[in-house]
Amino acid sequence: MSHNPIFPVPSQALTRTRMNSSQYAESYAQSIANPEEFWAAQARELLSWRAPFQNTLDWNFHTATIKWFEGGKLNVSENCIDRHLELRGDKVALIWEGNEPGDTKSLTYRELHRAVCETTTLLRSLGVKKGDRVAIYLPMILEAAVCMLACTRIGAIHTVVFAGFSAEALRDRINDCSCSILITANEGLRGPKTVPLKTTADQAVSECPTVRHVLVVKRTETPCPMQDDRDVWYHESLNSIAGSDNSAAEPMDSEDPLFILYTSGSTGKPKGVLHTTAGYLLYATHTFRYVFDLQEDDVHFCTADIGWITGHSYVLYGPLANGATSLMFESIPTYPDAGRYWDVVERHKATIVYTAPTAIRALAKEGDHFVTRYSRSSVRLLGTVGEPINPDAWLWYHSVVGEGRCPIVDTWWQTETGGVMISPLPGATPTKPGSATRPLVGVQPMIVDEQGQELFGNDVTGRLCIRFPWPGMMRSVYGDHERFRQTYFSTFPGLYFTGDGCRRDEDGYYWITGRVDDVLNVAGHRLGTAEVESAIVRSGAVAEAAVVGVPHDVKGQGIAAFCVLHAEVLPDAGTKMKILATVREVISPIATPDHVWFVAGLPKTRSGKIMRRILRKIGEGEYGAVGDVSTLADPSVVADIVSLVQAARLSKD
Ligand code: WT7
Repeated sequence: MSHNPIFPVPSQALTRTRMNSSQYAESYAQSIANPEEFWAAQARELLSWRAPFQNTLDWNFHTATIKWFEGGKLNVSENCIDRHLELRGDKVALIWEGNEPGDTKSLTYRELHRAVCETTTLLRSLGVKKGDRVAIYLPMILEAAVCMLACTRIGAIHTVVFAGFSAEALRDRINDCSCSILITANEGLRGPKTVPLKTTADQAVSECPTVRHVLVVKRTETPCPMQDDRDVWYHESLNSIAGSDNSAAEPMDSEDPLFILYTSGSTGKPKGVLHTTAGYLLYATHTFRYVFDLQEDDVHFCTADIGWITGHSYVLYGPLANGATSLMFESIPTYPDAGRYWDVVERHKATIVYTAPTAIRALAKEGDHFVTRYSRSSVRLLGTVGEPINPDAWLWYHSVVGEGRCPIVDTWWQTETGGVMISPLPGATPTKPGSATRPLVGVQPMIVDEQGQELFGNDVTGRLCIRFPWPGMMRSVYGDHERFRQTYFSTFPGLYFTGDGCRRDEDGYYWITGRVDDVLNVAGHRLGTAEVESAIVRSGAVAEAAVVGVPHDVKGQGIAAFCVLHAEVLPDAGTKMKILATVREVISPIATPDHVWFVAGLPKTRSGKIMRRILRKIGEGEYGAVGDVSTLADPSVVADIVSLVQAARLSKD
């Protein structure tokens, strides 16, 4: 009954592969039959330990307790750098492509080691020690990678905040985990724009009582304000510690926290996803190797920013732990024009390209000539992540970018999972455009209905859960373990609930259908509806707001905001501008609504709950499909909203 084309594993992929289809089947079966044995063997093979672990796994999904490899000691920076020095000291670890085409640098493993050791000494001289939290608010520059690794060398917990986030967002993250140091740059460059990072950081830190020092990387020559007793230039302090060495790597316990990364949930403020040392590192290392079928001469081009989990796992930790060469890209896909990715690919001879469906759609729109102008002959594998990829975008990526010869790995995972969970393996899995295909070894997905009953067999649709722990899974919400339990383990007791809807087709392939909670995915960025709504209300003009996702041809999902204004406020362009500006300021430009619709009232149940289902249908333009409105406190609001939205759409608002 399949209407989906199937793309077989290309024979060229088979000649280089680490895992073919029968090896996958065998190893999957083994990993499920004996998960602990399987992961213990991986941990011994892929990581270097200062002291061996004794207890492979201790878990309870009811209390949200997950502990892997207890008793073991190791250090992440040693695994990512030191252990490669003997065999790969002169191999390039990181290639950097700056904002301007051709502005490029690289670091060999030996050079990276030196840089990380110096920065470790520097951070220690500023008082950073094991367990301290360090916020990193940097553009995609080599210093970002070096600082993250230096934190891991000390055992300090980094929290990287995407450099596009606002002062308020930065402040809240710093305060939530009480960071003692913030590392930023005077200024960032993003295509034609400059980003005043230090000014934004100053605004944030003025309300962060725990921050003792702001370490400032000089990215450009533009001056920036420096506060005498608090702010330090990175390059100057490196000079001042020259000759001293305090860079010994701290042996960490397997379950010591490694980093915190904030992500949006369906309610309230972003949560600090906590990952720990051994499990995360093993999972990033293992998945990078298998999903991308790693070869010694690979040049891995993952376009994600280091401020997201994809940047953590597949720009930094996964590639470096494997001794691979990873490319860091500072600019944007359309600067100076829509050919930039392929220009980078040609000049650096990238062998793997890993990007997001939203970027693929945006570039496909610009025309094939931006791609075909450059040679992609070095590329052997393509990957996508972040949201479901529509088959049209998949086919364009496959035929135009990949010349029809490169397999595509559509990788499903989450900030919470630490690494890829469901994905084809290039040498093992025939692909279907739009499907993330099959679980990786050691991953036990399960589809349940709304009551939590397992849906067995194929050709079923429901909610995606995971029934057994994997090493890379998050361990807690920083400072709020109960929220961790509540968010992931209480909807379906005994299971980890992903928040995604999912279909398993007639061949057992998984198709992620998108979030089933109040989380939006806008251009691959995760936003909570509640988060955007409260930002809108902060504008002062709006009494009440409801936000839903609407289909958007490039971003996948856009944001529609239904706003009830305060009595004296006019529903005009000025008010709309004010709302948009507030959202940008409170969260980030990423969260800017695509539509702002001023409505007289929101559809609510008699108990006062907003019926988003109805707003979603209206947002999708399915005005006739709003369904039963009889349970609403005031059913007439629906017709009013429909006519208002129709009129607004006609006037292209
Ligand atoms: C959500 C997680 C993992 C790094 C990037 C996003 C969606 C992610 C896919 C995919 C369909 C996908 C899910 C997931 N998602 N990858 N290949 N196919 N949906 O991480 O911000 O934590 O978002 O992104 O809805 O739950 P994130």
